[in-house]
Formats: sequence, structure tokens, C-alpha cells
Amino acid sequence: MSLDTARPDSATADHLPALDALRGLMRRFTTDHLVGITPEDFQHSLLARIGTIDSDVEGYDDPARQRDLSIKFRFGHDHDFGAFKLDGQMGQRHLELLASFIDRLGALPTDLTGKRVLDIGCWTGGACLALAAMGAQVVAIEEVRKYATCAQDIANAFGLQDQIRVLPLSLYELTGEEHQDAYDYVLFAGVLYHLTDPVLALRHCFNALRDGGTCLIETAGIDDQASTCRYEGPGVFHAGSESELNRSGWNWFLPSAPALRRMIADAGFADVHVQGPSDNRLLARARRDTHTDMLRAGLSVPHVR
Ligand SMILES: C[S@@+](CC[C@H](N)C(=O)[O-])C[C@H]1O[C@@H](n2cnc3c(N)ncnc32)[C@H](O)[C@@H]1O
Repeated sequence: MSLDTARPDSATADHLPALDALRGLMRRFTTDHLVGITPEDFQHSLLARIGTIDSDVEGYDDPARQRDLSIKFRFGHDHDFGAFKLDGQMGQRHLELLASFIDRLGALPTDLTGKRVLDIGCWTGGACLALAAMGAQVVAIEEVRKYATCAQDIANAFGLQDQIRVLPLSLYELTGEEHQDAYDYVLFAGVLYHLTDPVLALRHCFNALRDGGTCLIETAGIDDQASTCRYEGPGVFHAGSESELNRSGWNWFLPSAPALRRMIADAGFADVHVQGPSDNRLLARARRDTHTDMLRAGLSVPHVR
């Protein structure tokens, strides 16, 4: 199984009690619940995007050096819209992950009413919908503009524009005042190993949380008792072909569990708990107690908060 398409083992995932509840909540997002758009127009607007190739919208100088996924539109997570279904690149992973944070790590309540949640790297927004159905006020960021637009369009089609806001931003751009000390939960899943600077990224998560808030982390990782990371870089692919623009890979650093634990703590977090690896994936939770400083020496952005 390639790292990018790794899904939690479905037999194990089926034993997560929260998964059934989440699947039930997702039934709200079928074409008979659309607001202000016909099922036909909604279906057409999604199907028309799948497989389209567009690097201009992302503003790249050299598309040949960019990630296939950023150029060619692929839908993120499975969704049964009732009148039609879309197969996502990552299957049911969005729901299995949330269920894992609820049932395995005890890090997320099933009722998020009144809570503010930041979803980092939302792709086409599967987890945003689930979090909104759990009651949360959701802000999502996504570095690929075409996916951010799609996720917001889907949320709007279900009348959720006041509950889900998707911003075409990189995590490294999350420096605006409105994102400081702002969230009860930060969902940072499937992204850390795609980043050049995971420690700085964790610091942005730390800054975005309010005191007492929880970071929910999931990443590809390596099985090593030592505190190590494997470097891959943009030349290592795990599946797919250049002609199909469907290669997986595009990973930078893959941490072991001890390395991930240290990175999270060094970014400022308390009560760090890491599970795994299982199927080359690590699951973690950590709390921001209070906003403390971190080591400044060697920081790639010296004045990050
Ligand atoms: C492997 S997918 C994971 C999707 C989803 N979070 C999940 O866990 O199933 C990674 C997503 O994060 C986005 N991403 C990668 N780096 C990012 C960054 N620096 N800031 C925001 N989004 C990023 C990618 O474009 C992609 O949509």
C-alpha cells in the first residue's frame, strides 16, 4: 500500500463505535439536502472537475516540478451523495480517522457544539462536513486552490457557508490574527510528512489553538525505536505514473514515533501521546497548556510566534 493512499485497516476500523455514528451523520449530505442548487447541477459541477488538469490556477512557474495531485484534480474521500457516489482517493479515511481520535485516543468528543475546529489540508472537504455535522464551527485550510474552492462549493451547496469556511492557504501562512489562540481542536492529519519543516508546522498548530486546546495529529511514519526520520523528497514515488499524473509520494520527512513525540513536545505541546506505527501510520494527540516560547536557535522562520 502506498503511503499516500494508506487507509486504516478496515477490519480494525469497523470496530470503532464512533464510525457508525459518523457514517449516519454523513447521510445529511445527500442531494435531497441541497440548498439553492439542483441535484443535476451539483453533480455536473463535481464531475466536471474530476480529472481536469490545471496548473495555472495554482500559479506555478514550472508545472513539471509540481505534485501530480496539485495539477490534476482528484476527489479526496468517498462520498455517497444519494443520486450519485464519488470514490475518493483516500476512501473512508476521513471518518475512520475521526473515529480513531474519538475511540482510540479519547481526544475528541462526539458532540462538538460550540467548538471551533481547524482542519489542515482538507482536500475536498470530507472531514469538514463530518465535523460540521458533529456541531463544530469549522475553518479549513488547503494549499491547493482547486481543492479549497471545491470544498467550499460543497459546503455552500448544503447551506453550510456560515459553519464551514475553507481558505486557500498553506499552514505556513496561518499567521493572521484571527487564527491565533482561536481553535479548540486542530486536525492535522495526513499532512506532516508532506512538509519541509514539520517542527515549524507544529508550532503553527500550537499557535492556532487556544490554551487547553487539543491537536489531533496523523502522519505517515517509520517503524523505528530510535528518534529518526526518513528523508524522501520529491524524487521518490510509491505508485502511479507520470503519464497519468497519478503518482503517490511527494513526501519530505517521515518520523518514527519517538521522533514525532519529540517534535510535538519541542513545538510547545504538553501531554503528548503517540500511537503506532500501524500500517506505517502514526496517530497522536497533544494539548496546548499555555502559550510558551520555544527554542529560537535554527528556526527557519525566526520570528514565528
Ligand atoms: C494526504 S492529503 C490528507 C487529506 C486529509 N487531511 C486526510 O487526512 O485524509 C494531504 C492534503 O493536505 C494538503 N496540504 C499539503 N501541504 C499543505 C500545507 N502546507 N498547507 C495546507 N494544506 C496542505 C494537500 O494539498 C492535500 O490536500
